[in-house]
Amino acid sequence: MSQSIQSHRKDEHVFLAEKFFAPQAKAGFDDVRLLHDPLPETAVADVSVTPALFDWEWPFFINAMTGGSQQTGRYNEQLATIAAHTGLAMATGSQAVALKEPDLASTFQVVRAADPDGFLISNLGANKTPAQAETAIKMLRANALEIHLNAVQELIMPEGDRDFHWLTNLQRIIAASPVPVIVKEVGFGMTKEALVKLRQAGAKYVDVGGKGGTNFAQIEGVRRQDDDYTALADFGQSTVESLLEAQDSGLTVLATGGVRTPLDVVKALRLGASAVGISGLVLHWLIQEGPAAAEAHLTAWQRQLPALLALLGAKNLTTLRQVPVVFSPALVNYAQQRNLK
Ligand code: FNR
Repeated sequence: MSQSIQSHRKDEHVFLAEKFFAPQAKAGFDDVRLLHDPLPETAVADVSVTPALFDWEWPFFINAMTGGSQQTGRYNEQLATIAAHTGLAMATGSQAVALKEPDLASTFQVVRAADPDGFLISNLGANKTPAQAETAIKMLRANALEIHLNAVQELIMPEGDRDFHWLTNLQRIIAASPVPVIVKEVGFGMTKEALVKLRQAGAKYVDVGGKGGTNFAQIEGVRRQDDDYTALADFGQSTVESLLEAQDSGLTVLATGGVRTPLDVVKALRLGASAVGISGLVLHWLIQEGPAAAEAHLTAWQRQLPALLALLGAKNLTTLRQVPVVFSPALVNYAQQRNLK
């Protein structure tokens, strides 16, 4: 079967994300210290890490990456099998390609077949119609819909969008969607100003999608021979900076971007995230070590999370938010200049 340019790009994204994968991310988690409590007065068995989000059992999930080509369809199936075994929620990559080429819908539908009762999340861009959003949701029998904001990525793609009037359309999608909508940046972060606009547009759930992990300026930049956008590789707000931007947003906040350890998850939860997305690292495990090892890594994280909370003297994710935290001078400076708490 010959492959369209859009479908081929899905394979390219995976190849380049893995090529550029950095074991040490720069999402700002090193700028945040959670203080050790030498007298935690808790027991690991008494800790609950259930988030106040949908019906999720775990406060982290596998975020949007794959589908749209035969190879990424196989990854979708493997990831959904892992999601079924671990009880983690999972988002697919953008389904736009399957709206254009219905033959490719099967590369997304495999996730529902592999995880019949799981919490699965559809994914589309902010320029799609409410009817297209509904088609994407039906394709997976999805429990939620992610709408990604990816202005930087579009700009760098030679064939990408140049018109970023998204807010009114976003409002329509949110109003019409039969399932909850999570508005998601893809790795350049948020501002408190954008969060106000999103809230006014009816958004309730936002994934701040910060800089520091998978970087689409780098990935898309590879295909540009004419303009050089490499400077944008360091553009945007880190995941931690974006979480500070979201402190008073009144929204349910999720955070993705550069998460590498269970302690990163705990830090993001401490800074206000209700749940934390992991993408590049899971793909890295899957490609380098295979599905069984990727699943073992994730179950290890599930074991470690309650242990880390116990160490901090936190019995659940609400009391975790009271755990003392110390910021680096650079992060304090950022917060001051942005008038954040
Ligand atoms: C992505 N990401 C992504 N996001 C989205 O909303 N729609 C998409 O189609 C894709 N596609 C995609 C492909 C690949 C190969 C990767 C690695 C990532 C972005 C992803 O959901 C996440 O926001 C970022 O990757 C940042 O998280 P990590 O990778 O640093 O954990």
